[in-house]
Amino acid sequence: MSSLPADIHRIPADRLGALVAAMPKAELHIHIEGSLEPELIFQLAQRNRVALPYPSVEALRAAYAFTDLQSFLDIYYAGASVLLHEQDFEDMAWAYLQKAAADNVLHAEIFFDPQTHTARGVPFKTVIDGLSRAVDRAQSELGVSASLILCFLRHLSEEEAFATLEEALPFQDRFIGVGLDSSERGHPPEKFARVFARCRDLGLRLVAHAGEEGPPAYIWNALDVLKVERIDHGVRCVEDPTLVQRLAREGIALTVCPLSNIKLCVFPQMQQHNLAQLLDAGLKATVNSDDPAYFGGYMNQNFAETFASLPLDAAAAYTLARNSFEASFAERSQKVKWVDRLDESFARFAA
Ligand code: ADE
Ligand code: ZN
Repeated sequence: MSSLPADIHRIPADRLGALVAAMPKAELHIHIEGSLEPELIFQLAQRNRVALPYPSVEALRAAYAFTDLQSFLDIYYAGASVLLHEQDFEDMAWAYLQKAAADNVLHAEIFFDPQTHTARGVPFKTVIDGLSRAVDRAQSELGVSASLILCFLRHLSEEEAFATLEEALPFQDRFIGVGLDSSERGHPPEKFARVFARCRDLGLRLVAHAGEEGPPAYIWNALDVLKVERIDHGVRCVEDPTLVQRLAREGIALTVCPLSNIKLCVFPQMQQHNLAQLLDAGLKATVNSDDPAYFGGYMNQNFAETFASLPLDAAAAYTLARNSFEASFAERSQKVKWVDRLDESFARFAA
């Protein structure tokens, strides 16, 4: 695969904003329930006759002032309560995939939280059928490839994760892997050692949120106990230089979510975000939107705000986009085609 394009230095600095918007990219960290915009929440609430504790779209949006991960999760789970039918899941995922296409996302690996829905009596089949329909439409109508990753909620027990896996197995051809999300502090990766071992035996790809709010030890254990292939967030790795060396040496990707980190107060302001530091340390960082409806923007907004605030240049843009393709779970031959499109995009800006 290609390294930096030879003529990258010819890209004018004032074209950087346009470049990061136009360049092809992959999104590897998006919770589909976090793409549910307030307007769609209200529409679905009306359609499904679900009562919401907010009088209007504006009042709901005004409640999006978070102090930490848990303060966000409380609202995020309440928002998801309007999702009941297959059509609701399709509408939600289709809305996201159209936005992804507009941001030049060629490939998305999409998290979903089945336990948030099955706990309310929505069958797993309803969730996966709706999401799969949107995924299929994205390929045929938008030329965007998408895959699904089932996330276990870490505030629930491992036994409940096993029960969810059992429900999911008849649909194993519809999702490529499993992840671990929800409240990080107090719920270390090792709590899910046995269910991840089983998923590994089943041939599923493995990822986990670690080092968002939790300490570097959670990243070590996600790697060594759960044997994950990517770390979601991982920004707190910088507190442990030995861990940084290991992540760099093994080329383990971090799916970093800059706007999320600001909204959840992981960093006080974008100027203090450590994305540039992660790249300088040789880490395979990527940029992602996490929960774009709640955190102020989709992929290109994340790129725009990080590039406006941090010492990142065209080489960093190329590296981030290339990392996103290389760290994806797509076939190698497909990755080569995407990187070729990335090179073409940079060549156009250097011309
Ligand atoms: N679920 C949705 N977004 C999340 C995040 N940023 N961290 C943990 N769990 C999540
Ligand atoms: Zn996340």
